[in-house]
Parts: sequence; C-alpha cells; structure tokens
Amino acid sequence: MDYPRLCICFLFILNFLVCLTTPQSEFRFNRCSTSGNYTSNSTYATNLKGLLSSIPTSSDLNSDGFFNASIGRNPDQVYAIGLCRGDLAVPSCRSCLNDTVQAITQACPNQKEASRGYDNCMLRFSNRNILGSMDDGFLYLGWNEINATNPTQFDAVLRDLLLDLRDRAAAGGVRKFAADVVNYTSLSKIYATEQCTPDISEMDCGRCLDMARNFMTGYATSGTVGATSIRNSCVLRFEPYQFYQPTADATPPPPEPQSPPDTPGTLRARGNNNRSRTIIAILIPTASAVLIVVLICLFIKLRKRKQRNVKSPRSTHFKAWKYWREGAGSNLIDPVLRADSGSIRDIIRCIHVGLLCVQENVASRPTMASIVLMLNSFSITLPLPSEPAFFMHSSIDPEFPLSEYNLVAKDSNLSTSKSKYAMR
Ligand SMILES: *[C@@H]1O[C@H](CO)[C@@H](O)[C@H](O)[C@H]1NC(C)=O
Ligand SMILES: *[C@@H]1O[C@H](CO)[C@@H](O)[C@H](O)[C@H]1NC(C)=O
Ligand SMILES: *[C@@H]1O[C@H](CO)[C@@H](O)[C@H](O)[C@H]1NC(C)=O
Ligand SMILES: *[C@@H]1O[C@H](CO)[C@@H](O)[C@H](O)[C@H]1NC(C)=O
Ligand SMILES: *[C@@H]1O[C@H](CO)[C@@H](O)[C@H](O)[C@H]1NC(C)=O
Ligand SMILES: *[C@@H]1O[C@H](CO)[C@@H](O)[C@H](O)[C@H]1NC(C)=O
Repeated sequence: MDYPRLCICFLFILNFLVCLTTPQSEFRFNRCSTSGNYTSNSTYATNLKGLLSSIPTSSDLNSDGFFNASIGRNPDQVYAIGLCRGDLAVPSCRSCLNDTVQAITQACPNQKEASRGYDNCMLRFSNRNILGSMDDGFLYLGWNEINATNPTQFDAVLRDLLLDLRDRAAAGGVRKFAADVVNYTSLSKIYATEQCTPDISEMDCGRCLDMARNFMTGYATSGTVGATSIRNSCVLRFEPYQFYQPTADATPPPPEPQSPPDTPGTLRARGNNNRSRTIIAILIPTASAVLIVVLICLFIKLRKRKQRNVKSPRSTHFKAWKYWREGAGSNLIDPVLRADSGSIRDIIRCIHVGLLCVQENVASRPTMASIVLMLNSFSITLPLPSEPAFFMHSSIDPEFPLSEYNLVAKDSNLSTSKSKYAMR
C-alpha cells in the first residue's frame, strides 16, 4: 500500500475542512439598465461617484445593515440603496458593499441605473426615486439541481417554514430579517432566511416575500433542496446547509446598555455563549478532522505491520468502513457535531473520499487531481468505495443497500454552486 500517498490524500481532506470554515459571498446577479446613459464628465457621474463612495463607510450601516440616500438635484439626482443580509456583522457588511461598489462601477460604466447582488449584500442605484417604496421587480432566481428524496414532504415542510419566516421578517423592526431551521428528516434540515429592506411597511414586505416565494415555487422544480429568490425590496433563500450566522452577528452593538426587546423574526444573541459557540463550531471540526486523520493513519500503519506476521482474523473490522457500509458513517463523528452542525454531509463526504483513497486496487484510488476536484466541487458524484485494503474479508453482501446516510450524502452533492439561473 502506498502510505505517503495516503497521507497526502488526508492532508487534502484536512485542508478542505479548514476551507469550510471560511465562507465567501457568492455573486448572484448584475443588471445594468438600458433606460439611460450618462457621460463620464457629467454632473450625474460626479453625484453617482460621490454617493457610491460614501456607502461602505456610512454610519447608516451600523444599526441595520441598510443604506438609503440620495445626492444632487433633479435631473442629476442619484438615489442608492444598499442592503446586507440581516445576520451579517457590520465590518463584513461594509466590506461586501465596498466590493459591490467597485464591481458595479466596472460592470455598468455609464448606465444611470443598475443593481448588483451577492449572497451577503446587494446594491441598487438609479436616477429615479427608489427610496422608501416597495418594488417587487424581479432581480434573480437561482436553484439547486438536486431534488429532495421525497419532494412532496419536502415542499410541505418548506412551505410552512417560508410562511412563518415571511410573517416574522415583515413584522421585524430595525432589521426586517428572519432566519430559522427545521428538521426535514432525522438527518437533514432546511435552513432559510427572508428579508426586506427596512424602509417598507409590514404589509409591503409580506407582499414582496409572497411574490418572491410564489415566483420561485412556480418556476423552480418542486422538491429542489435549495433556492434563492431576489426582488428589488426583498430576498428569500433556503438551503440544506447552514449559510447564515446563527450567532451574535445579528445584533448591532447596542448604543445603550439596556437590553433591547426581542424583535420578532430576528435571531438574537442570548448571552455571551454565542461567541464561544462560534469558536467551538470552528475548532471542533478541525480538531476532530486532525484526530480522525491521525487515528486512521496510525491504524493503517499498525495493521500493515501486523499483516506481515499474522494471517488476518475474520473478526477484525475496520470501523470506518464498517460504519460506512452500514450507512452509518456519521457514527464516526463526534456527537456534539452530529447534533449541532450543518456540516455533517461535508464530513461524510470527506470520509467517503478518504475511503476511496484506501482502495485495495491502486488503480481505483483517485488521483491527486481528481481528489482536488472532488473536494472542491459538490456537483461531482463520488464512486462508491469497495473494501479498503486493510479490511479483512467477511461475508457481508457487497450490494449493500443505500441507507438514509448515503442519501444524505447524495443530496448534499449540491451544496455550494450548482444552480440554474433564470433571468427575465
Ligand atoms: C448606453 O450605453 C450602452 C453601452 O455602454 C449601449 O449599449 C446602450 O445602447 C446605451 N443606451 C442608450 C439609451 O444610449
Ligand atoms: C466632456 O468631455 C469631453 C472630452 O472628453 C468634451 O468634449 C465634452 O465637452 C465634455 N462635456 C462636458 C459637459 O463638460
Ligand atoms: C474598498 O476597496 C478598495 C479597493 O478594492 C480598498 O482600497 C478600500 O480600502 C476598501 N475600503 C473599505 C472601507 O473596505
Ligand atoms: C429533479 O426532478 C425533476 C422533475 O421533478 C427532474 O426534471 C430533474 O432531472 C431532477 N433532478 C435530478 C438531479 O435528479
Ligand atoms: C431536530 O433534530 C435534532 C437532532 O438532529 C433534535 O435535537 C431536535 O430536537 C429536532 N428539532 C425538532 C423541532 O424536532
Ligand atoms: C431610509 O430608511 C429608513 C428606515 O431604515 C427610513 O426611516 C428613512 O425614512 C429612509 N430614508 C429615506 C430618504 O427614504
């Protein structure tokens, strides 16, 4: 067996796990209006430049992650709206809007009206007054190509969740944002957020989110496990994995010490333990990964040594393979992670790749290039591993049934990127 190659393989897996802890804001849409152009030395250009450059440092963002302002006089008046996802901390919000300002100026160099959005924030500017009024105009719809295992059941659970979040987001105060998670099966969950710009009324927010939800369910295939629907005044998203911060990030730094009343529909910090939970959530997967890698490497080394002397006893089972084969790969994961983390499918996938790396037949072990591909893209379906080289032969049926865990692992092939885009 190729021992160094094996360990390099695990290092890639470890690297991947570490990468999981640094989420990035994914680009969603860019629209440059065709309704009017300005010239580079016009008053409109100066106004626009001034207004956009003030957004990332604006103190407006402190309280609600929302920017709304205008500058100049008709006909050169410019209006702009910036909105960060409701759970985002202020520095991340500023940084996202800063990136958006840079990018939108390059993407739409002379259009009087444009909009651009990422997972973390969106920005619109116009020569029309877009402030303070609901606009349910379409901006973006994207959805996952992976279907839930039971679409009817999935859609029912999802619908209840989305209706609940709509009401909570609309009733929100400073931030019209709501996030929640529900159990879909005992092993998979649905994470969702809904948000409106805070300058519109509760009723308008509800209408905008209804529009976003109805258009999405009418357009996207039913049973799809994740989708994002963005209109001018609201955003709706659900995924099979945790994509928002369930932590203190949601709460702006309170100007006065008195504890604010819980805004309905907002995820609020409950004491200091949120920060430590975040740290634990990052530390535990990394530490567990290191531990798993070290243990597996040690085990292989010992087994290799033993094999030279003793003819293997049937009773010896390699735990990872055994659990995997029985569809219970998650038994290898620390119970704390199992109960609390949305990354279970990622870990299962890592174990899956790990098992592929220890195939008896060298030819069926993946190459480095394909491992990198497997770890970076969830849309690639992994081959099912057969018995690893160190597994002692026994009489288990090779055609093991796909249990729920395998299905979860399959469902999760989607997570990050594979979406279809609909533009209108
Ligand atoms: C504005 O400029 C774009 C190119 O940047 C051009 O395609 C478009 O036709 C122009 N629109 C008007 C109304 O002049
Ligand atoms: C804008 O600059 C161009 C040359 O780059 C010049 O011909 C034009 O007169 C200028 N327009 C205004 C309004 O200053
Ligand atoms: C915004 O981005 C520019 C260049 O990308 C950078 O120089 C600047 O420091 C950033 N500003 C903030 C507030 O992040
Ligand atoms: C999901 O289901 C739809 C039909 O409802 C089908 O067209 C599509 O191919 C399915 N996608 C996958 C990845 O199985
Ligand atoms: C969801 O499942 C977790 C275990 O995965 C369980 O601890 C929790 O109580 C369940 N929540 C609900 C509302 O059933
Ligand atoms: C900006 O939005 C706030 C709500 O966050 C609202 O109170 C204010 O009137 C808005 N300003 C403008 C100019 O529309």
